Amino acid sequence: MNKKTDIIAHRGYRVVAPENTIPAFEAALAYQPDMLEMDIHRTKDGHLVVIHDEKVDRTTNGTGFVKDLTLAEIKSLDAGSYKQPIMQDVKIPTFTEFLTFLRDINFDQTLLLEIKTDHVSYPGIEQEILEMITSFRPKYHIIYQSFNLETLIRLRKLDAHVTIAALVFWASPKVYWLKIRGIFDYIHSDIRILKKKPKMFWWPNIHMRIWTVDSEEDMRRVFQAGLKGMITNQVALATRIREEIQGDRHGK
Ligand code: G3P
Ligand code: CA
Repeated sequence: MNKKTDIIAHRGYRVVAPENTIPAFEAALAYQPDMLEMDIHRTKDGHLVVIHDEKVDRTTNGTGFVKDLTLAEIKSLDAGSYKQPIMQDVKIPTFTEFLTFLRDINFDQTLLLEIKTDHVSYPGIEQEILEMITSFRPKYHIIYQSFNLETLIRLRKLDAHVTIAALVFWASPKVYWLKIRGIFDYIHSDIRILKKKPKMFWWPNIHMRIWTVDSEEDMRRVFQAGLKGMITNQVALATRIREEIQGDRHGK
């Protein structure tokens, strides 16, 4: 029996709550997605924080790069108002706070953890993340992902057993070569590229998850092809469409 295509909540359920914040993760979990996706950067004083952009400008009332702000400065920011005025008290979570949240709710799905080293260099961040995870002894599964192939290589050297995915716009020969060498386990590819190569939707590619799938048309295509996973902002819509297409015919 085939397995369902995983639904992965992108930065939580960012359509209804400020992305990468605890309310967004809570909102996503109401739909029981297979995975929560989130992003990690590091502050000037060395704290790991959960935020997507290199800068705080888009999602807070502050300005500047995360790498140039202290944790106290990050914590003083309003990370909710940009989404809804009543969410003005929402803060950027630290990685520790996020992991504590998962522990407190007995999270038992998969965490898709993106290390945001594609534009800013954070020397040693891979080891810091692994050490933090180890200190929490999570019972849930974790997949580490990054656009930065050097980060993936460093992760694999640090731990031969962690699950790793390469984030790519297009799975180039170099990407497949690194995968064959065992540097990573999965490929997470941009749907915009896949749509230009429609035959790929029909290949039995058990390693491929696709981002970011938000339209009903794209969702139907991915679910009908039975790809391994779909990273989406539209968690409720994906849940409904998967039930319709894969329903009881595909067991977990
Ligand atoms: O998980 C895939 C996706 O999150 C990668 O793009 O920019 O949203 O982190 P981005
Ligand atoms: Ca991400």
